[in-house]
Order: sequence, then structure tokens, then C-alpha cells
Amino acid sequence: MASNITFHEGAVDLAERTQYLGQKGVTIWLTGLSASGKSTIACALEQHLLHLHKFVYRLDGDNLRFGLNKDLGFDEKSRNENIRRVGEVARLFSDGACITITAFIAPYKADRDIARALHEKTGLGFLEVFVDAPLAVVEQRDPKGLYKKARAGEIKDFTGISAPYEAPEMPELHIKTDECDVTEAVRTITEYLKAKMFI
Ligand SMILES: Nc1ncnc2c1ncn2[C@@H]1O[C@H](COP(=O)(O)OP(=O)(O)OP(=O)(O)O)[C@@H](O)[C@H]1O
Ligand SMILES: [Mg+2]
Repeated sequence: MASNITFHEGAVDLAERTQYLGQKGVTIWLTGLSASGKSTIACALEQHLLHLHKFVYRLDGDNLRFGLNKDLGFDEKSRNENIRRVGEVARLFSDGACITITAFIAPYKADRDIARALHEKTGLGFLEVFVDAPLAVVEQRDPKGLYKKARAGEIKDFTGISAPYEAPEMPELHIKTDECDVTEAVRTITEYLKAKMFI
């Protein structure tokens, strides 16, 4: 960390921002295997919440790798840094009273826990959603053809095939996308947000 830096407090705090904007920031952290449905659910949820007139924004793994995270690969260290940055960015959005939806594989529990701690220590909500389907199902879906390439040895460090996925032990929500459709997933998350008074 740089020396000679001093944190500059703002003139408004979280409570005042929430009161004036009429909205509480929260991060909805979708995690799961490739093709489990994170991006699909994130897009549908973003649209649904926007139509409820909420300030909502989606951070998607592949999309951030075109910009902010374009210097990172898929080895363990790069994945740690990828998720560290996303956790920080999500926290900033949520601090700005946004409902922030993240859609990243985020295979390591420790990385997700760091993102959670970052939110919770500043009083921001963090809702971990395990977007889950068996490997056989996601491999069958394979919308980007990545499992096929990984099985052929053309992609290394591929989660579920040649790199680990540490499933959440106590996610706030566990959505099994081989058992429910996208609409039901959106409904489940929205109902949770309502029950916890985020919307
Ligand atoms: N219940 C469901 N929820 C979400 N997606 C589903 C569901 N059933 C089938 N699908 C299909 O599964 C695929 C999920 O792909 P998607 O790109 O959303 O996955 P992802 O988790 O974002 O993967 P990646 O980590 O590679 O970005 C899509 O083709 C989608 O249509
Ligand atoms: Mg995706």
C-alpha cells in the first residue's frame, strides 16, 4: 500500500444516502460453475428490479475481463485478484446505494469470504447466491463450447474440469437451475430482498 495517504471522509454517511435516495445498497453475489446460469439470472434479475424502479447494476465476469480485469488470466492468483477487484467495485456500487449483482464463478471460498467481509464491515448487505447445477448438466448445456474445449485439453485451469470449485457452505440462497427456471430464480431472489427489507 502507498504511504502518505489519508482516508478522506465524505460529508454524507450511508444512512443519510439511503434516506435521501430511498434505497439501500446491497450486493447480490452469484457464484457457481460455468454455464450454471449466473449471467442468465443476473440479466433477468437486473431487468426485473429496474422495472420496479430500482437503481440496479450488473457486474459480469466475462464483461469485466474486457476492461478492468483484462490483465488477468485464470490461474489461482489471477482468480484471487479478479475477485478481489470485483469485491471492491461491488462494495463501492453498493455504498452508492445501488443494488449490485455480480456474476462470477468465484471458485475459491476464501475470495468470496473476503468480498463478504468487505461489505459487512461497512454495514452493507451481502447476499451470496449459489447458482447450482450438476457438472453433467452444465457440461451438456455448454453454451460457449468451453467444456468441450476443456475436455479436449485446449483450455487449462477450467473450473470443474481441471481447476477446483469450492461450493458455498452457507449461502443465503441456493438455486438449483436444473430444477427451477429463470423466472423462479428471479422470484426467489426478489422475495428474499423484500423479506430482508432491501427493497
Ligand atoms: N434455470 C436456468 N437458469 C439459468 N440458465 C439456464 C437455466 N436452465 C437452462 N439455462 C441455460 O443455461 C445456460 C447458462 O449460461 P450462462 O451464460 O448464464 O452461465 P454462467 O453461469 O454465466 O456461465 P459463465 O461462468 O461461463 O459465464 C444458458 O444457455 C441458459 O439458457
Ligand atoms: Mg456468465
